[in-house]
Amino acid sequence: MNLLINLDPLSSVPLQRQLYDSFRRMILSGELSRGQKIPSTRELANELGISRTTVTASYEDLLSEGYLEAATGSGTYVSRQMPDELLRAAEVDLKLDGDSVAAPKQTDKAEIPLSERLSWYGASLEEREWLKFSDVESPVEFSFGRPDFAEFPMRVWMQLHSLHARKRSLSSLDYPSRSQGYLPLREALSAYLSRSRAVHCSAEQIIVVNGSQQAIDLVTRVLIDRDELAAIEEPGYLGAQRALIAQGANVLSIPVDYQGLRVDVLKRRSAETAERIKLVYVTPSHQFPTGVVLSLPRRLELLSWAAKTGTFIIEDDYDSEYRYKGRPVPALAGLDKSNSVIYIGTFSKVLMPALRIGYLVVPPQLVRVFSRAKWLADRHSPLLDQQVLTDFIRQGHLDRHVRKMRALYERKRKLVLKTIGELFGAHAQVLGDNAGINVLVRFTTQLTDSEIEEQCRARGIGLSSTRQEYLVTPQQGEFLLNYGGLSEEQITYALSVLAEIVL
Ligand SMILES: Cc1ncc(COP(=O)(O)O)c(C=O)c1O
Repeated sequence: MNLLINLDPLSSVPLQRQLYDSFRRMILSGELSRGQKIPSTRELANELGISRTTVTASYEDLLSEGYLEAATGSGTYVSRQMPDELLRAAEVDLKLDGDSVAAPKQTDKAEIPLSERLSWYGASLEEREWLKFSDVESPVEFSFGRPDFAEFPMRVWMQLHSLHARKRSLSSLDYPSRSQGYLPLREALSAYLSRSRAVHCSAEQIIVVNGSQQAIDLVTRVLIDRDELAAIEEPGYLGAQRALIAQGANVLSIPVDYQGLRVDVLKRRSAETAERIKLVYVTPSHQFPTGVVLSLPRRLELLSWAAKTGTFIIEDDYDSEYRYKGRPVPALAGLDKSNSVIYIGTFSKVLMPALRIGYLVVPPQLVRVFSRAKWLADRHSPLLDQQVLTDFIRQGHLDRHVRKMRALYERKRKLVLKTIGELFGAHAQVLGDNAGINVLVRFTTQLTDSEIEEQCRARGIGLSSTRQEYLVTPQQGEFLLNYGGLSEEQITYALSVLAEIVL
């Protein structure tokens, strides 16, 4: 039998793979017909002048994928049913369906508006004004709260990754029995929280989630019903506000001053309404976006009010690792004596947002309900990344990375403050404390916020005013400068352009 097979011994593609490709092509094109007998491995090896092992290996691949079938004693044949056909859905020709089953017609469409075909939640997402994400990214972006990716220890991360992938433990491919996350990671997190945030919790209270946003989503679903009250900071984090509104909560906006959330206003608003406030969402270690730190007296006042009223406090600790002066104030969850605080942590700022790993620390009475909610949402977070992260923490890489990044961000922060001082003088006021990877700046200028944004964008600099992005603030000329992901050259350049525009 003379088959048209051209093998190239100099190619980087192995001979076994070349032979497999030639057979697959001949079979799919019909050059080799279905049911046709093909040469034995010995015959073909002789004909092509290659080793029999190579031919056998190619045949085995074609047999295991279903292109060939072997009949004991009589040889190897092209299969009658191609595997590709079994994997591809047939296109149904509706005209051939006959009279018995009527194909749906264009005119059969029920005239029910989409909003009535959606759930209340679906309709709320469909109809409400949504977040404005810019489609175009400027060469220098102050708008996104990114960490500095260039410094990420990718080599270590990839080594740990391939180590775990190579282990190929079959049980790590299965559905984990529990939705709370990989136990060794939860143990490592419990130790990390205890030493860095004075939060003392058991691994049992930790639920690994896909970033803070999933934590917020689960919190709103588990704690809030339609028309119930939830309090948030103003200005504050839109990711939390949108999740609450989508769930149907009535959102009370509580102002923030230089000591953080105005707990006195929260208490007054709570006393004025007959309804109970079910939860209050706060960012105490570095208020988003003002950057202020919730003072200790306010923390204690908030906790004692929550204990008395039965309100849950949602503590979003998204970038607490970056603090440049003094020791950090203990987290609310560490001061809580009444099991009122649900703590949310994330690796988005400290490592990378694409990792999508965050965690909830819930009081013991909420462990069961949150584990069930997580199971319903997506069963559990991906295991391989959790294993890698566990080793990354246990081997000290996380602590090392945080120390290094803190020094780097502090340097960038000083550069931002110094440059703003030199270029803007009394025309700029920097708000917030010595923490985080962004600063809030208020400019004195004749221009409107959108004029500044447009002119900056035209010169390659992305910038967002707080009026547009971070809930209603009455302040004109306030911008959040996310400098974390920018290089020192980019920071200096962008601020000098900004000064030319604003002044
Ligand atoms: C207040 C706040 N919480 C959480 C996050 C991080 O969200 P995630 O962990 O879902 O990436 C951000 C991101 O900018 C934030 O500003």
